[in-house]
Amino acid sequence: MSQLNKYKRFTITSALPYANGPLHIGHLAGAYLPADIFVRYLRLKKRDVVYICGSDEHGAAITIKAKKESTTPQAIIDKYHHQIKNSFEEFGIAFDIYHRTSSQIHHDLSQEFFLNLYEKDEFIEKFSEQYYDEDYNQFLADRYITGTCPNCHNENAYGDQCERCGTSLNPTDLINPVSTLSGKTPVLKPTKHWFLPLDKYQPWLEQWIDQKEGSWKVNVFGQCKSWLKSGLQPRSMTRDLDWGIDVPLEEAKGKKLYVWMDAPIGYISATKQWAIDKGRDWKLYWKQQEDEADNACLIHFIGKDNIVFHCIIFPSILHAHGEYILPENVPANEFLNLEGDKLSTSRNHAVWLHEYLEEFPGKQDELRYVLTSILPETSDSEFTWKDYQARVNNELVAILGNFVNRVMILMHKFFDGKVESETGKITLTDGYLNDEIGIFYDALESGIESYRFRQGLQSVMDIARLGNKYLTEKEPWKTIKTDPAAAKDALHNSLFIIGHLATCLQPFLPATARKIFEMLNLPVEFTFDQELTFANGHQLNHAALLFEKVEDEVIERQIEKLHNKKQEPALVEEVKIMPAKDNINYETFAAMDIRTGTILTAEKVAKTKKLLKLTIDTGIDQRTVVSGIAEYYEPEAVIGKKVSILVNLEPREIKGIVSQGMILMAENAEGKLTFVTPVDEFHDGSVIR
Ligand code: 2FM
Ligand code: ZN
Repeated sequence: MSQLNKYKRFTITSALPYANGPLHIGHLAGAYLPADIFVRYLRLKKRDVVYICGSDEHGAAITIKAKKESTTPQAIIDKYHHQIKNSFEEFGIAFDIYHRTSSQIHHDLSQEFFLNLYEKDEFIEKFSEQYYDEDYNQFLADRYITGTCPNCHNENAYGDQCERCGTSLNPTDLINPVSTLSGKTPVLKPTKHWFLPLDKYQPWLEQWIDQKEGSWKVNVFGQCKSWLKSGLQPRSMTRDLDWGIDVPLEEAKGKKLYVWMDAPIGYISATKQWAIDKGRDWKLYWKQQEDEADNACLIHFIGKDNIVFHCIIFPSILHAHGEYILPENVPANEFLNLEGDKLSTSRNHAVWLHEYLEEFPGKQDELRYVLTSILPETSDSEFTWKDYQARVNNELVAILGNFVNRVMILMHKFFDGKVESETGKITLTDGYLNDEIGIFYDALESGIESYRFRQGLQSVMDIARLGNKYLTEKEPWKTIKTDPAAAKDALHNSLFIIGHLATCLQPFLPATARKIFEMLNLPVEFTFDQELTFANGHQLNHAALLFEKVEDEVIERQIEKLHNKKQEPALVEEVKIMPAKDNINYETFAAMDIRTGTILTAEKVAKTKKLLKLTIDTGIDQRTVVSGIAEYYEPEAVIGKKVSILVNLEPREIKGIVSQGMILMAENAEGKLTFVTPVDEFHDGSVIR
């Protein structure tokens, strides 16, 4: 098992979702489905693994939601904790525990962590000026303050972020700040907080993160490097909030632990609860062991908005504490978009899991399949209902379901569903099939172990493709009349293909794998080391339909629903198209050498507003390009992006930097820019023509 092989134990976490709203497909594709596939795979390999998650029940968003709905934060978290937990269960996300941060065990552990660092004198105690609502007599959480974004002039930006342009903000950055409690302008007042000195840990972090080059995804590694490059600043671990875990100090009455000192510690407290419930030792999964070789392998599955949190802040906390292991990997996913637009909870532009479950009962594996096929593993990806329909109909129904169904029907038609041989032995008699299946197993393993779950799933589908091809070549429905032994042999071999298919499907489509094992009348779970055999005289169960075709009306209804539900009025502005340019000859076009590449590093060019200095892997070399995209993209957001680059543009000096090439961007009538990126995974250096 590649570099994972050296570990005896695995601690796998998925980001704790806030219990302030339902889950949508973006959540599933970001941090849960990939982790679930990975965990199911480890279990099939009989590895010792604990998979941890739970609801994040603190944070200002929960209190705001409670105020909006005229209820209490407790009522909000109770409602959504249960709804979220149920959605995860329905989609087969196989946590060992789905815990809650409102639990006593979690409050205790978070306070213990804080005190441990406090007693070691790790915190810097600082007074800072924060907004205060004089009518309500309270300091305001970032989310309680709205105002005008200094970047894009959106008048409804929050104190921590502008949702229109994505810029992360401090409340004091806002122009005309307003308290959402009283609607009045808040005042700045000094308040004391406890800061984690990330600047002090920077040299240690640099060394630790540098070791991860090559094993961490480029987008994750690049984002960390970019943060380190801009220099880390102390981060406040406490807040003036009214909902959360109390700071365990006499002088900090009324203050709460901030999310960094709360949510990720939830992974550990959940493990503690699991260990109590199951009679296990949680320390084996979190603490450094006497012999380093006994340490567990910690892997955090998250979305890209949580990279800094899990790669810089939480490791710093664990490091400062001193007794804990650090993550081996943080395979963060990028974002999933929906029908050409960002998924948005506030605009209700989402496919909600609880609604899908109601409208597509029993079709969880269909969604798991489609989402796994389009996971935003290296760049943002997009879910569309048409694509959902195409993948279900052309892949699940036509390839996977069709193969299994044909074999089962023929076995029943010709042999009454009995697997019987005169020799007394049922074996896979075709060496080529055996070798091919072996190749697909290898591809599946290497895909999953390198967090390329899309590739892993394709390897499994390749087994079904192989089966269909084999069946078409052997034509047992014809040979049954001319050479019944050959027909039987072909169908028996096909049963082995189905058995392997079901084995490999387990991490991806667990319910489907189970259905197939039931049809085969084999135990419903097959680990990878178990030998697949059929006893002579083995009786198959009846064929059950695995997947149904998705009809056009079903898809149209979903698309319409999305359009109707979107709360923001659709943009009805006329789209302005640039006038066409004069024709050029083919030679002029062919002289341009345009390639696919990947952005490795990105930083702002000093004293400019528009320029980013990028390092691009062009497949040919790694080179510097200065690009005028800084108004639309933050440096950390572009690292890892696939781009198209004109590589034979004469080098030019821009602001003292030699720029070697030009990144191709699409520009709309308002001058907004977006990358031109290959739709499929393509290696850097591919020629664009
Ligand atoms: O960003 C979020 O969704 C928070 N609930 C934190 C998730 S990560 C954590 F669990 F460490
Ligand atoms: Zn903005």
